[in-house]
Amino acid sequence: MNDILTLEAIAAHLHTERLGHCGRILSATDSTNTQIKQHFSQQPEGFILLAEQQTGGRGRQGRTFVSPVGGLYLSLLLHPDLPFDKLSLLTPLAAVAVCEAVEQLCDLSPQIKWVNDVFLGNRKFCGILTESAFGQSVGKPDYSIVGIGVNLNFDRAAHPELAEIVGALSDAKSLLPTRAQLAATILNAFEPWYDQLLAGNGHELVEAYRRRLNCLHKPITVVCADTTYRAVCTGLTEEANLIVTDEHGQQSVLCSGEIRIRLE
Ligand code: BTN
Repeated sequence: MNDILTLEAIAAHLHTERLGHCGRILSATDSTNTQIKQHFSQQPEGFILLAEQQTGGRGRQGRTFVSPVGGLYLSLLLHPDLPFDKLSLLTPLAAVAVCEAVEQLCDLSPQIKWVNDVFLGNRKFCGILTESAFGQSVGKPDYSIVGIGVNLNFDRAAHPELAEIVGALSDAKSLLPTRAQLAATILNAFEPWYDQLLAGNGHELVEAYRRRLNCLHKPITVVCADTTYRAVCTGLTEEANLIVTDEHGQQSVLCSGEIRIRLE
């Protein structure tokens, strides 16, 4: 397949007003999120940085995101005028945008594992890492970077340690979109949700996230820094925090931070 990743190829599929019209594509880098932080944080909102491969791809909670050639590694720079409690919706927003793009291009129905992973069946094919910098601006971040990694293909033989958990679009589809098409379609889906969020309306976004959540009304294990307990996921707050009820009927609201959940 003719999968050449250029800004022109992305532009050919882009229908956004602001996102994705300027950027860079690198052949290899440590991490596109890190590179934006170090060199491009002054760029205008909508700047994108992509890489053919990452040698130090980063995930949440200090984890590594294995990023071989063939995947989509995209970081989007934003200067969001959003208070802290709404800023945490950027990751759910990106997850919804990835789902919508994959639904549209591949006719598949991905599901979201709270808070930042996107799954096909029981395998993760996409991870999202949102990072924000604070200091200069009052009540809002100086910038946020939404980093999205999507496995179009994944050579499990080359990574046996990930073979049970990592998936790819190619597991479910033989005819894949190009990375440029996928990047543009994600950005096309991202912008209208982002505009709604900036306008103070996150309700429909949280609904779109909730509809694709894979843990709702299911038994889960909650893993915190110092404790692990079993619970049932009973809902989602307006900030996309998870509402869980433990075995004693005690309800808690989980914010993503250091917590992760495991489906039983
Ligand atoms: C996770 O799985 O916890 C999140 C993975 C996020 C990976 C993307 S790929 C583009 C950007 N650059 C990075 O180093 N990470 C994100």
